[in-house]
Amino acid sequence: MSTISFKTSVKIPQTDWSPHLAALSAAQMNGWATIQDPDPRLNDYVAQIKNSAEVLVVIGIGGAFLGTKALLDAIPRESKTEIIFAGTSLSPAAMQQALDRIGDRNFCINVVSKSGTTIETNVAFDIFYQKLRDKYKEKADSRVYATTGRSGTIFQMASERNWSWLEHPDNVGGRYSVLTSVGLLPLAVGGVDILELLGGAKSYAANLTGALNYAALRVHLHNQGYFSEAMATFEPELRYFMEWWKQLFGESEGKNKVGLLPTSLMYSTDLHSLGQLIQDGNPKIFETFLEIQPTASDIHINALRGLESKDLAEINAAALRATVAAHASVRPVVEIRINNRTAADFGALVYFFFIAAAMSAFALGQNPFDQPGVEVYKKNMQKLLGLSDD
Ligand code: PA5
Repeated sequence: MSTISFKTSVKIPQTDWSPHLAALSAAQMNGWATIQDPDPRLNDYVAQIKNSAEVLVVIGIGGAFLGTKALLDAIPRESKTEIIFAGTSLSPAAMQQALDRIGDRNFCINVVSKSGTTIETNVAFDIFYQKLRDKYKEKADSRVYATTGRSGTIFQMASERNWSWLEHPDNVGGRYSVLTSVGLLPLAVGGVDILELLGGAKSYAANLTGALNYAALRVHLHNQGYFSEAMATFEPELRYFMEWWKQLFGESEGKNKVGLLPTSLMYSTDLHSLGQLIQDGNPKIFETFLEIQPTASDIHINALRGLESKDLAEINAAALRATVAAHASVRPVVEIRINNRTAADFGALVYFFFIAAAMSAFALGQNPFDQPGVEVYKKNMQKLLGLSDD
C-alpha cells in the first residue's frame, strides 16, 4: 500500500473543508476526482504502437504534456519504444532536434489536446504528420493516435482520416488529466504499470488528511503574506514532477491577483546557487521538500578520506537532512515523502496534489478549473499571425 507522509513545523490552523469538498462535488470539472478504469480500446492501441514503433512522439503542451513526462521520468520502467515529446516549444532548433532524434526509425504519433485548437500543438503536429506521410504514404493515418475532445481541428481530422481516437474527458481539465487516457496511453507504451498507478490514486482518495493539511498550510501562509512556495528535491528524476506541480497550482489558484508563485529547486545543484537566497534572502518564501524514503544503493565511496565505503544514498540523505535543518531555521518548511518509486506511490502523490490544488484554490476564493489568463497571449498571437482581426 502506498502512503504519503506529510510533516511541517508550522502549526496548521483548523479548517472546515466541508464547503470546499461540497464545491468540488458540485463542480462540472470534477471528472478526475473519481478514478476511472482505462478506456477499453487502450490495450489494443498500446499493443499496436509497441509492435510497430521504435519511437512514439507525444505532441501536446501544458496538461497534455507535463504529467506524462513527470511520471515517465519518475517511475522506473522498461520499454523498447522510446517516448519523445514535441509541441512544447515553437523553436525551430528544438523542433529540428526532435525530428532528427526520430531519424529513420519507425514511429507513431500521439497528439494530445483537449481543445484541439492549441497553436503550439497543432503546429508541431503539422510538422510531424508531414514526416509520417512522407515515410508511410497512405498508411500514415494508421499511425496517428489522437487524444482529444469532441470538437476542434484535431477531432475533425481524426474523424475524417479515421485515426485511432481516445476521448479527453470533457469534465477533466488538462492539468488534472494525467490519470485519464491523456497520460495512460503514453505511460503504458513507456512501460508504466497503469493499473498500479490508478490503484495508488484510488487508495489515496480514501483518506485525504495529508492533502487537506497541506492545502490548509498553503492557504494559511498565503494569508500571512508569503508570496512563493519553492518545491525542492534531491532526486533529479523528479524535476518534471515539480514542473507538473508548478502548472497544477499556478493555473489552479493564480488568478484575480491572488495565488502563491510555485517555483522549484533542484538540489544539490541549486544549493550552490539559489540556496543562498533561500538561506538568507526574502523570508516570505516557504519551502516544500519532495522526498523519497532513502534505501541502500549499489554505489559506494571508494577512497575519499572520511567517507570510505559509505553508501551514496546515505550521503544524499545527509544532504537532505542538513538542508531541511538549515532552511527550517529561517522559513517554514514542509516535507512530503513517499516510500518507494512505484507506480502506486506516484499515483497516490498525483491524487494528493490534485486534491490539495483544488482545495487551496477554493479556499482562496478561486475557480481551480479555469485559466482565463492564458487566453491573453493566445489572442495576441492569433492577431500577429493574421489568424484573427481582434
Ligand atoms: O490545464 C490546462 O487546461 C492547460 O494547461 C492545457 O492543458 C493546455 O493549455 C493545453 O490545452 P489543450 O489540451 O486544449 O491543447
